[in-house]
Amino acid sequence: MLTSFYPGALWPDTNGTHINAHGGGLLYHEGTYYWFGEHKIEGRAGNKALVGVHCYASRDLYNWEDQGIALHVSDDPQSDITRGCVIERPKVIHNATTGTFVMWFHLELKGQGYRAARSGIAVSDRVTGPYTFLRSFRPNAGVWPVNATPAQKVAIDPASIEREFNGSFTEDIDQVNLLGRDFAGGQMARDMTLFVDDDGRAYHLHASEENSTLHISQLTEDYLAPVGKYIRVFPKRYMEAPAICKRKGRYYFIGSDCTGWAPNAARSAVADSIWGPWTELGNPCVGEGRDTTFGGQSTFILPVVGKRDAYIAMFDLWRPENAIDGRYMWLPMRFTDVGFELHYLPEWDLGIFD
Ligand code: DGJ
Repeated sequence: MLTSFYPGALWPDTNGTHINAHGGGLLYHEGTYYWFGEHKIEGRAGNKALVGVHCYASRDLYNWEDQGIALHVSDDPQSDITRGCVIERPKVIHNATTGTFVMWFHLELKGQGYRAARSGIAVSDRVTGPYTFLRSFRPNAGVWPVNATPAQKVAIDPASIEREFNGSFTEDIDQVNLLGRDFAGGQMARDMTLFVDDDGRAYHLHASEENSTLHISQLTEDYLAPVGKYIRVFPKRYMEAPAICKRKGRYYFIGSDCTGWAPNAARSAVADSIWGPWTELGNPCVGEGRDTTFGGQSTFILPVVGKRDAYIAMFDLWRPENAIDGRYMWLPMRFTDVGFELHYLPEWDLGIFD
């Protein structure tokens, strides 16, 4: 029985096997936490989706029981989630009205690198699955964000743009109106998370516009589609790995810079409304290793049930050469008057919040 977290170490499940749920997210449902994440295999091949989305269950957050594969990749070569596609950062939320568990993930179609930049949706009546894949798409086709400027609200034929982007910072990003380019076909959706607010409204936060700008989209009441209201945030800041929580009426954000699998300095931000304005607060990490987020990249923020003011920031330590060996780093968030801090701890337990 584990009684502590050991950030960055191998994390055995209750069978003694290192947990295989990368880029994950947690759902608390009826007294149990469920951890969904990317199932990886050995070697570089593990960076592709060859199995699916793995689920684990725990009541104490330290000890995790394997619940198997919640969403399987498909053997049908015509399927959007055919084996060998890319499925990243799956997140599951529960719709209290429909009773359905809804999974969203970043999907890249097989053989297309990271060009597709789509959102995938799968549903299940049971929290652990099996989840049924519904569809994939690029969000918000034919809709302008609420905070777009008149200059941005110009639809452009994508075929007229020859230039290629590689998903990382480029000086001349201003020369192409990416929002206009993707207006008709839908906006790009790569690194992502989901967030359900106190009023039951859900939001999809995703890296868009060739990773340069984050979009926050409200979802429909059944959580199965964008409702058609969204904003652009952190324009041209190239933020990946979005994670968000709400504390005392304020929204706190963690993200990363955009450097592939290599760690970089984390970003943080705060807002009084999910619709902004969002104020960047800089790198929340403190101490040695702060410039590389102690080797990690954010994936989720978990409010701990039954503890006051207890939030855990979850990170992946990627191992792209041997994907299955990727590690997890969970750290307690220390809130300040302005924002929050993250300190690396080699071992800690939930008593830290008492
Ligand atoms: C960084 C992202 O955060 C990951 O989810 C993954 O997409 C890698 N880039 C791929 O290089």
